[in-house]
Amino acid sequence: MPQKKPLVIVTRRLPDAIETRMMELFNCRLNLDDKPFTQKELIAAAKEADVLVPTVTDRVDAGVLAQAGPNLRLIASFGTGVDHIDLPTCRQRGITVTNTPGVLTEDTADMTMALILAVSRRLTEGVKLIKSGEWTGWSPTGMLGHRIWGKRLGIIGMGRIGQAVARRARGFGLSIHYHNRRKVHPDIENELEATYWESLDQMLSRMDVISVNCPHTPATFHLLSSRRLKLLSERAIIVNTSRGEVIDENALARLIEGGEIAGAGLDVFEQEPAINPKLLRQDNVVLLPHMGSATIEGRHAMGEKVIINIKTFADGHTPPDRVVEAMF
Ligand code: 8YV
Repeated sequence: MPQKKPLVIVTRRLPDAIETRMMELFNCRLNLDDKPFTQKELIAAAKEADVLVPTVTDRVDAGVLAQAGPNLRLIASFGTGVDHIDLPTCRQRGITVTNTPGVLTEDTADMTMALILAVSRRLTEGVKLIKSGEWTGWSPTGMLGHRIWGKRLGIIGMGRIGQAVARRARGFGLSIHYHNRRKVHPDIENELEATYWESLDQMLSRMDVISVNCPHTPATFHLLSSRRLKLLSERAIIVNTSRGEVIDENALARLIEGGEIAGAGLDVFEQEPAINPKLLRQDNVVLLPHMGSATIEGRHAMGEKVIINIKTFADGHTPPDRVVEAMF
């Protein structure tokens, strides 16, 4: 007798080809209008599903997991970050969690560089000036930004994305510095000519550009606290393509408003999709709607990973992208 197909509930719209393949392989319930689930809808899904496919917009917390049905054995998240899922509770309840690492590294690193350049060279201000119709022509002192060539980049979190940022940044003439829980392999340090800073405080005070590339975990929540942000030089800029929660956003907004930090490029926010109004007012802040990994190619690759994780699990094997808490 053929095995029953698992009931897979997907909380958001995924690329067409991915949804089609999922429908072929699984007993799949899609969210065709793409409206994010309320907590009530998420609980209802967790009660019924064999496999849940959430995204960053779902809060799979202890409350949801406490009400999950006995069939829920796999949470195959669409995305790399897993801070929206209560991992310890999943472990206690014997629910396997998978993510989609690797396939969005290069896109996110590209967006990090885009933000570094956009803030330093005032790209959004330039676009705004042109579109306003008020540009009166070139002038020797018009729209001056800061050169990034020869400056120091401090990367917080030297995992896959941090390293991909470093590779690109070297091409732009930035010297590479990093803070990480541990030093990376000497071969990687040599390749990137990267300097390790055990003390985040010391690194912060000496950098021109800071890039946040670590995951959000209990240990990194507000890692860039008000006290630490004050260590930055007033010429420094900060970019974040990881998670808003790593930076004390209120403190950052205050320091930028007070001219104590030169600018910021943010793709992620503490209370997404709400944006701190103080940040919206600043010309030296470039804000993007969490689109670091938003490429067609990336989304397909993420979907493929979700499918492979579910299929492998359903066939009785360990899925390739199983998340182990110690990784974060
Ligand atoms: C994803 C992200 O698009 O993968 C991540 O961790 O932050 C995003 O780039 C999003 O999480 C999808 O769930």
